[in-house]
Amino acid sequence: MTAHRQSSPPPSEPPSLRVMLFAGTDHPLWPEVVRLRQRVFGEEQGISEESRPDPDDAHSIHALATIETPDSSPQAVGTGRLTVRPAGQQEALIAWVATLPEARRHGVGGAVMRALLAEADAAGTPRVALAAQRHAESFYLELGFTPVGVPYTVRGIPHRWMTRQRPEPLDI
Ligand SMILES: CC(C)(COP(=O)(O)OP(=O)(O)OC[C@H]1O[C@@H](n2cnc3c(N)ncnc32)[C@H](O)[C@@H]1OP(=O)(O)O)[C@@H](O)C(=O)NCCC(=O)NCCS
Repeated sequence: MTAHRQSSPPPSEPPSLRVMLFAGTDHPLWPEVVRLRQRVFGEEQGISEESRPDPDDAHSIHALATIETPDSSPQAVGTGRLTVRPAGQQEALIAWVATLPEARRHGVGGAVMRALLAEADAAGTPRVALAAQRHAESFYLELGFTPVGVPYTVRGIPHRWMTRQRPEPLDI
């Protein structure tokens, strides 16, 4: 009798997550950012008018997160924008943070935010602010943001401003 060895499939490698940062709207990755915003804010949330490219995009830093498996090419799954104000203004702004629905709760949004916050910290910005959709408040709380002011609504979506102070450098 011939013995057949049962071969189990090779263990699948976890997808690798990468966050790229680029400035302005001339970069080849910019259309991917526009596409992701349109998918999440336009199609899912119905606010395509508000989420269209705006004048701040040209002088902001954009994050694009991709995931890649051994069997697939990189797929763009997440984005976010950091606008560092001109010298003399204290606050940087983060906006348009989005992860495709099918990629949520796998660390994509957190990775995008940490990349943008590291940029803000490196630029010496003392405070970062954002208009949080209230369903995402706990996401931002975990990243060091604190709610400020009273909640308000934009196009039926409850919001609240949140801010985060730059961490003090360790004095070792
Ligand atoms: C908010 C958003 C960007 C989060 O992206 P994500 O890739 O799912 O985030 P992460 O996987 O990095 O989440 C990190 C942690 O944040 C918290 N979190 C994320 N989404 C959450 C949600 N909807 N409700 C409660 N907690 C949430 C969780 O603690 C999560 O960790 P866990 O999955 O281990 O529990 C995503 O839900 C999204 O694109 N929503 C639609 C667009 C939007 O509302 N953007 C924010 C505009 S202010």
